[in-house]
Amino acid sequence: MQKRYSKNIENQLLLNKLQQNRFFLVVLVLVVFCFTVSLYVSFSYDKEKAKKLYVEQCSKCHRKDGRGIKGVYPPLKNSDYVQNGDKIELLRGMLFGRSGKIIVNGEVYYGVMTTEVDKNLKDDEIAMILEYVYRELNGIDMKVTAEDVVRARKLGKLPPHK
Ligand code: HEC
Repeated sequence: MQKRYSKNIENQLLLNKLQQNRFFLVVLVLVVFCFTVSLYVSFSYDKEKAKKLYVEQCSKCHRKDGRGIKGVYPPLKNSDYVQNGDKIELLRGMLFGRSGKIIVNGEVYYGVMTTEVDKNLKDDEIAMILEYVYRELNGIDMKVTAEDVVRARKLGKLPPHK
């Protein structure tokens, strides 16, 4: 009887140990996974490529330095609209265009921006352009992902500003 009892405890201890080991294994796998994902995310933004895409897609209006043309094309550099805005809203503007009254840094614009991103661009490239605008033109450490672009596309065109 005594022997059986201690055998049971032994089994229980063994089981606990196994479960503990399994727990640590799961934690380890999770840590490695998160580390790999964060590594991938931080390297997926390529500043030179982002700059090239920005210049190709946006600079004819917003200019190479992002300062725009006063009264015609609003600035993207140090733009209070970008800084206070929501990245999904900005992506919707890039994907489907935007129009109507907009005030940027105190200046009123009544412009029309049509769809300005090339149809052949991939979602992560579109994300990279906006990330460039945040990081390089506004000094904001913002991550924009291909998933954000998918969300913006689902929400569709912005209504014109009144
Ligand atoms: C053909 C000219 C043109 C091109 C090219 C263009 N835009 Fe615009 N953009 C405009 C105009 C005009 C407005 C103001 C629209 C309004 O009055 O509602 C604007 C507004 C904006 C705004 C909101 C206001 C601000 O200045 O913060 C953002 C953000 C923006 N554009 C981003 C981009 C990005 C990113 C690209 C490149 C993918 C781009 N635009 C390409 C003309 C353009």
